[in-house]
Amino acid sequence: MNAAAVPPGAPPDSHGVAAAAERRWAFVVGIIIVLLVAMMIFTGLQWAAMPPSRVETIDPRNLHVTGEFVESNLGTSVAPDGRVIARLVAQQYSFEPQCIVVPAETPVTFRGTSTDAVHGFIVGTTNANVMLVPGFVATFTTTFRKTGEHLMPCHEYCGTGHEAMWARVQVIALDEFLTRTRRGERVSCVSR
Ligand code: CUA
Repeated sequence: MNAAAVPPGAPPDSHGVAAAAERRWAFVVGIIIVLLVAMMIFTGLQWAAMPPSRVETIDPRNLHVTGEFVESNLGTSVAPDGRVIARLVAQQYSFEPQCIVVPAETPVTFRGTSTDAVHGFIVGTTNANVMLVPGFVATFTTTFRKTGEHLMPCHEYCGTGHEAMWARVQVIALDEFLTRTRRGERVSCVSR
């Protein structure tokens, strides 16, 4: 319909109104698309130029032979600055160590990696939950409020033995933990 043909006082030109509304919304949608594309370009360039600073890489082929994750260095220890660090290695289909002792009511930093496939672990119903990817060191800090024992299953499908891959975490009182580490003992699980 031609708008010029509508006499004065006639009902509004519904075609013209619809066309104007369509143009308005096309403009709004266009702005949203431009914003999304701009965000994609910005984040893509930023991630390429500045990878996350906490990415730590490690050579999975010689983990057992040299460096932080040799067997004698696995388990829980107190760093010179007082931080409690639990180190572990995941491999098809077990964790090393099989049982980790940590103190209650103290921040504990887990440092872990994998020798083969992508694994993961979750500690009981706590928020300790991380993926272990070969070539990278995963870190996670959490505080266990109560003493007790948790199961720590692998929660990332890693092969035919996945469902049998799990370890335990024993949370003991802080003073007991400190007494045992002060004696220079390597803190290992005790059966209760
Ligand atoms: Cu390791 Cu699933």
